[in-house]
Amino acid sequence: MSRMKWISHHRPALASISLVLALGTLGGCGSDAGSVAGSGMDQGGSVSEDPLLRFGSDGTFTIVHFTDTQDDHEIDPRTVELMEAVLEDQDPDLVVFTGDNVRSGPENPEEVRWAMDAIAGPVDSRGIPWLVAFGNHDEDHTPETGMNEAAMLEYYMGFPANVNQQGPEGVNGTGNVCVRVFGSDGSTPLLHVWALDSGRYSPDTIAGQSVSADGLRTYDRIRPSQIDWYVRTSREAEARFGAKVPGIMFFHIPLPEFDLMWENRENHGVTGEKNEDVAAGAFNSGLFSAVMDRGDVVGIFVGHDHINDFVGDYFGVKLGYSANVGFGTYGLEGDGADRMRGARVIVVPEDDPGSFETFMVYARDYGIR
Ligand SMILES: [Fe+2]
Repeated sequence: MSRMKWISHHRPALASISLVLALGTLGGCGSDAGSVAGSGMDQGGSVSEDPLLRFGSDGTFTIVHFTDTQDDHEIDPRTVELMEAVLEDQDPDLVVFTGDNVRSGPENPEEVRWAMDAIAGPVDSRGIPWLVAFGNHDEDHTPETGMNEAAMLEYYMGFPANVNQQGPEGVNGTGNVCVRVFGSDGSTPLLHVWALDSGRYSPDTIAGQSVSADGLRTYDRIRPSQIDWYVRTSREAEARFGAKVPGIMFFHIPLPEFDLMWENRENHGVTGEKNEDVAAGAFNSGLFSAVMDRGDVVGIFVGHDHINDFVGDYFGVKLGYSANVGFGTYGLEGDGADRMRGARVIVVPEDDPGSFETFMVYARDYGIR
């Protein structure tokens, strides 16, 4: 992969990104994170472990959650502007993209790479470690371009500051990963950032029966092999480090528990908006049950439903949406359609990494409409 190619092929609207890239700090922490992570992995490349990925000297670890950028090689420049504004404002230690990173539109592999460059550029050029999970739309272009999730993952992993791994072998989904974050001294793992592939769609008809006739959504679900991997990896960390490592989990499609929490929102201290249905998969994966049993994951964050941004505490685990960051896809209806474009910020304190604060920041906060 050639960065020069990226710069020279950017369309004029992205000239500012190209300039940042040309002048930016490719290298530093991000570069080390990418290279060391590649050699520090275990379990067939499902754990990203680099002592340089650590809490800051300010005693916090800040994650910015971008979801549903959902654009093509001619990305809406406001999406890039918003991402850059958030990064400048929040100065995150890690950025997580939770899928629908790219949508249909690209007609060849080069155009897919431009689309990926457009979202990776603002983060990677700043040397901020980042990773992606995949959503239901990331392969919409694949019939035309031939680039599937595995090929896209490989491309993302070629960026200096990317901390994705290939993912555990024999486990459903592309790029399932556990990113280990160390304390500010670089010696003690204090936080796991999990990213899972929540799949795309379930069949319309199963065993001769219509899924939608039951009023169910035909989205996919986290599979048992992924839950096994999570539990196994979590247990191994506990055995190795002598304590459970608090975790925050990210993926694209919400769990059915998100809807149950909203229905009983007063009981769970839910804040934020719900402007569309919780489009969970047709079948409950059991992931939430596994998380409750292990007792280490303290937050689960998703995208998928662009105009929901509610968050609450569901029996000890914070469940939350980020509203979407991409202007080039659906938002609210009518005037103010872009009112909720934004990103979620999660700030984890080093002295109590099992707790965190989280809030949304919106395009409107930065004068972007
Ligand atoms: Fe989406």
